[in-house]
Amino acid sequence: MKKAYGYGSSQGTLFAAKEAYRTIRTNLMFSVAKTGCKTVVFTSSVPGEGKTTSAANVAFSVARSNKKVLLIDLDLRNPHVHRLLKLKGTPGLTNYLSGFNAFEEIVCREVYPNLDVIPAGTISPNPSEMVGSEGMAELLTKLREKYDFIILDTPPLNVVSDALSMLHSTDGVVLVVRPKYTARKEIQRAIASVEFVKGKILGVIVNGVDMEKKNYGRYGRYGRYSRYSYGKEAGEVRVGAEEPETAAASAPEESAASEEKETQ
Ligand SMILES: Nc1ncnc2c1ncn2[C@@H]1O[C@H](COP(=O)(O)OP(=O)(O)OP(=O)(O)O)[C@@H](O)[C@H]1O
Ligand SMILES: [Mg+2]
Repeated sequence: MKKAYGYGSSQGTLFAAKEAYRTIRTNLMFSVAKTGCKTVVFTSSVPGEGKTTSAANVAFSVARSNKKVLLIDLDLRNPHVHRLLKLKGTPGLTNYLSGFNAFEEIVCREVYPNLDVIPAGTISPNPSEMVGSEGMAELLTKLREKYDFIILDTPPLNVVSDALSMLHSTDGVVLVVRPKYTARKEIQRAIASVEFVKGKILGVIVNGVDMEKKNYGRYGRYGRYSRYSYGKEAGEVRVGAEEPETAAASAPEESAASEEKETQ
């Protein structure tokens, strides 16, 4: 059985990471004020801020609360979900949307109790068209009847606009931000893009902060990010490759921070 993962090896760090993702899960549950399936896009302004890591960890966390969750890798150019979770990468979404595979062939069932995953599939020459296609919208409509929560991992907004074309058929965006890495103007640009298409920002995940220093969430400390490549040449996902760090949730609604009873 797959496990939710954190960074570093110490139990304390893993516990802190798990708690942080649990808070994010609770806030998300309250941010999307509706019954039925919630569909949320995870994105960021630039590459490497932790979208995939955050999306996967939140998916595990929601699944642990006894909700039926589907994690879809919508980063069709630079897919990482399958690598992170050690799943097969193909066939996947692109193979289904091109008509080559049936749905049952692309979905990885019960990767973790209550969690199914759809990998991106074979790299396609027209990813934007696929993400914004009628077929994709129809698939999401169908899947909403089967899941309580659908999480979409997408490419960075300031590099490609794929995430934006999804917004009209989802409940909103979770923006992942990495302090000391992302320039403030890049974050502002990403927020402006979401607002331009009338998308809703449900919350911001401030990723890779030292919780003990309590300095997270202050955009004033951000430096410029150094890595800005996107495409097949981008690096492998390496879980636990850096110093132990955790994620902090910036809640859009304070009331959402109330504890939710976990079943596991
Ligand atoms: N909180 C963290 N602490 C340490 N390392 C992290 C943290 N979050 C992410 N990473 C590492 O940073 C790298 C990028 O993370 P991830 O792949 O989740 O980012 P991404 O935003 O999805 O990137 P891309 O834009 O390339 O899709 C990975 O090696 C991941 O293991
Ligand atoms: Mg990613």
